[in-house]
Amino acid sequence: MLKKEFSAETLVRAAVDALKKSYAPYSGFNVGAAIICSDGEIITGCNIENASYPVTVCAERVALYKAVSEGRKKFMAASVVGGINGIITDFCAPCGMCRQAFTEFCSPDFLFYLYDGSKFKSFTLGELMPESFNGGLLK
Ligand code: THU
Repeated sequence: MLKKEFSAETLVRAAVDALKKSYAPYSGFNVGAAIICSDGEIITGCNIENASYPVTVCAERVALYKAVSEGRKKFMAASVVGGINGIITDFCAPCGMCRQAFTEFCSPDFLFYLYDGSKFKSFTLGELMPESFNGGLLK
């Protein structure tokens, strides 16, 4: 299937908007994420912390799993943004666990857009997750 065009700016803006919903009373580090499906729909997520710290879930995994739970399986790109007290001053790259989660559903050319409050930066999943462990190895 041909991939649809999408606006990176719209995707980043959706992530910035989702950050406002972040629940991060322990770290004070608010994260927002947005994933764009192959049909152009954007699904968002935010980090959700827990008093039992390891129960915390990252914003980008919330967005990905929301999308998958709604029947989505094909994705073009995601944006992740974050900062202390919700103020974005630096690029917030997806953590290792999230890179692995995205590896399950997304191809190496899947794009991550990061934003430091003024500039965009993009990486492919292949760049962020070279030599990944993936389902192909289990066949
Ligand atoms: N966090 C994310 O939401 N995504 C990442 O990729 C990195 C970390 C969240 C988890 C935790 O709530 C806070 O940022 C500080 O680690």
